[in-house]
Amino acid sequence: MDIQGITLALFASFARKPPVYVDIFNRVSDIRSALLHAKQANKTVALVPTMGALHDGHRSLMQVARDSADVLVASVFVNPTQFNEADDFNNYPRDIEADRTILADSGCDMAFTPTVEEIYPEPDHTTYDFGELETRYEGAFRPGHFKGVAMVVRRLFNIIEPDFAFFGEKDFQQVMVIRQLVRQFKLPVEIVNVPTLRESDGLAMSSRNVRLSAAERNRANAIYKALQLARQLAPSESPEHIRSLAVELLEQNGLQPEYFDIAYPDTLRPIRDFNGAPHAVALVAARLGNVRLIDNLQLF
Ligand code: PAF
Repeated sequence: MDIQGITLALFASFARKPPVYVDIFNRVSDIRSALLHAKQANKTVALVPTMGALHDGHRSLMQVARDSADVLVASVFVNPTQFNEADDFNNYPRDIEADRTILADSGCDMAFTPTVEEIYPEPDHTTYDFGELETRYEGAFRPGHFKGVAMVVRRLFNIIEPDFAFFGEKDFQQVMVIRQLVRQFKLPVEIVNVPTLRESDGLAMSSRNVRLSAAERNRANAIYKALQLARQLAPSESPEHIRSLAVELLEQNGLQPEYFDIAYPDTLRPIRDFNGAPHAVALVAARLGNVRLIDNLQLF
């Protein structure tokens, strides 16, 4: 190929695949001044808060967010205040270089990757009270977790001032807590839930999945099987019977369930009798080796 041919081929390849790029900000003051221009031009802002180790589930959050606002911001911050086990925090996967590529090719305009000092320049002494939501399921097994989530999400909302914020339904209870936070503090942001993305065998996509060994990964879809079993049996079998079959299925596959329960989706109160229940959601948390996985499925 002559020089003209090479130039044309290079040009064609750039035209096919434009170089992807995302503006990265570590400091609150820098991202706020970048956003000021957008806001002065009446542009809407969408925020996708993440803890990094991005995967296709995050891509789908960003895709939905991308289509709903003029400017897409994603935050990448492993928030220490929401971890109730030091090991879980220390072992949480971190890969900012891979994240950067995913952020850029998901159409993200700005990434906010602050340090702990930048997010928490001083301790947050606000009282966060989510009532019953904090006493069940994730709230019961991870004391203080939702206060930590509320603290960081509120801080991110104050910094970015998004019009919309997007959260995955895999963390069903977290979305409920965040909606309550927004109501309690009258935060001017619309919360949007995005359906859970699953691997081909049904395992919900999660940053923690990369910590599973190959053997554990093969067994991890028992979580989805247990949820599907619940969906097949409800409401003709009792919630208690379904619960015990689901727990048995998890244990047979080497998982240690922390909870498997069926609840009203609007309150997360446990359903003990399907009579009169308009809707039901099954919620599960189980350990596989050192990895803790959660999932949920709307039953009807
Ligand atoms: O779901 C998560 O990744 C985190 O809990 C969140 C919402 C980014 C807060 O740290």
